[in-house]
Parts: sequence; structure tokens; C-alpha cells
Amino acid sequence: MARILGVGIATLDIINTVDGFPAEDSEVRALAQRICRGGNATNTLAVLSQLGHACAWGGVLADEPDARRILDDLARHRIDTSACRQEAQGKVPASYIVLNRRNGSRTIIHYRDLPEYSFADFSRIDLSGFGWLHFEGRAVDETRRMLERARAEAPHTPCSVEIEKQRDAIENLFPLADVLLFSRNYARSCGIEDAGAFLRHARLLAPHADLVCAWGDKGAYGLTQDGTAHHSLAFPPATVVDTLGAGDTFNAGIIHARLNGYTWEHALRFACELAGKKCGRVGFDIHAPTTLTPTLSRLAGEGV
Ligand code: FRU
Repeated sequence: MARILGVGIATLDIINTVDGFPAEDSEVRALAQRICRGGNATNTLAVLSQLGHACAWGGVLADEPDARRILDDLARHRIDTSACRQEAQGKVPASYIVLNRRNGSRTIIHYRDLPEYSFADFSRIDLSGFGWLHFEGRAVDETRRMLERARAEAPHTPCSVEIEKQRDAIENLFPLADVLLFSRNYARSCGIEDAGAFLRHARLLAPHADLVCAWGDKGAYGLTQDGTAHHSLAFPPATVVDTLGAGDTFNAGIIHARLNGYTWEHALRFACELAGKKCGRVGFDIHAPTTLTPTLSRLAGEGV
């Protein structure tokens, strides 16, 4: 069990489940609607908390009723929100999500007008005692300063950075991370369709980090500091029902596995199993065993 700090967003997710993706300018009836907390960093923390870690969140909320729903869910996952900033004005970020029941695909329209979590907010957090620091790669300049502080004040604490989307100068974060968690979407936005080739390209910008890239039904790829390439197959459930946050769950799996000393090969496999398990159920209550060892995880590979 470790203390883990996650810096990034919490959102209000309004998820409409539909029977097939609607045509443009059509009207369809949703089969179900769920309104819940979302957001990459807090999704990752919610999974890590179920894996037995003591998690804390650094992010921004607005002082309005929907923030209550978010805070209640974070409290349910025992996530410490004392480093959270509450804006007096504005609304919490919201995602309007179409979840296609036929294949589990999720299409997200995201709206936010809240300011981002800042370096000034982050500088108030006491970093001693954390076993891992995880950052969403957003608000690049502020995040770069946070990572610089972490490097200077907690040089032995691993820092992971999620690189999900193309943002101005996001590569500036690469040299400051120990683990870079890339999305397939980001790799594609660099014009590279092959995960291995993408990681070799990223290596030029991040000479000292362990690099990971999840690639949907092809599993996940790694290129570690020692130059070794790794791959794990995907572990899709019998029926894919909900892929929303599968990447966030995968990231939690990598962090948990590395904190527990798994080799990179086992870490990738564990994270793919966990993400697969998540895709087979709605939401993030994975009820994953807290002590899934590499050996057990190999056995569990048959049918997560
Ligand atoms: C899933 C997710 C949702 C959220 C959106 C924000 O990865 O975090 O919960 O609404 O992405 O981009």
C-alpha cells in the first residue's frame, strides 16, 4: 500500500447509453442514463484506492451543487480532497457521453471553463510521504513547474505523466517524468500508426523515462529505460459494455504494478487485465483483488 497523489481533473459525466451510435441530426431514445463523477486523474485514483492505496487528489472544483456529487464519490473511494481548490464562481467541468451498448464505445463532448489547477495550488502540498505522484499532461507550463518541484523536493518518488492529447509544448514534460503513459490517440496525432515506432520516436524526447502506450484491442506496448521493448496482449471481457475510462484504469494498473515491484512485462499484463476487466462492467467499481500477484494474474488471464 502506498500514498499516491494524483493531479488532474474531476468531471461530472452524463452518460447516455444508446443502442447503436446515432446518425447526425437524428433523435434517439437513450436506454439508460447515469450521472457520475469522471475525469482521468480521479478515475485512476478511484481504481488505485480499490487496489488498496491511500490516494489524494489535487484539482479544481466550483462551489456549486454538482461539486457535491463529485466530492461524495471521492469520499466513497476514501480519496483525500484536502488539496483540492474550490472556485467561488463557475460550474464543474461536464462531459456529455454517448455510450454505445453494441460495442462499448464512448463518445465524449467535454465542456469546461474552470481554471486549471496551478503550480501555486500544488506548491501547498507537502510531498513527503507520497510513494508515487501522477499527473495528467494538461496546463503544460504549470505541470512542468509541478514536476520540477517534485524532482527537486522528492527526487526518489516516481512521477508518472499521462499524455493523452496533443497540447502545445507537451513534450516539455517528457524529460521530467519517470513513466510516460501515452494514449493511442496521442501517438496517432503525431502521425504514427505503429506503437513500437511511436515509442522509439518518443524515446528521442524522453531519454530517461519508461514509456508505455496502450493500444486498445492490440494490448499495450512498453519501451523501458534499458532499451527493452515489451508487449502485452489485450484481455477483452466476453462482452465489452463500457470502455469509458479504460485508459485511466490501465494507468492505475501500471502504477499499482510498479509500486509492487512487478517487472515491466508483468506490469503491462496486469494493467491490460485490469482495463479488460473494467470494459466488461459499467463504471469503476472493479472489486479487483488487492493482492493480484503476477502468478495469479497469469491464471486470471483466461477470463477477466
Ligand atoms: C474518461 C474521462 C471521463 C471524462 C473525460 C474527460 O477517460 O476521464 O470520465 O468525462 O474523460 O476528458
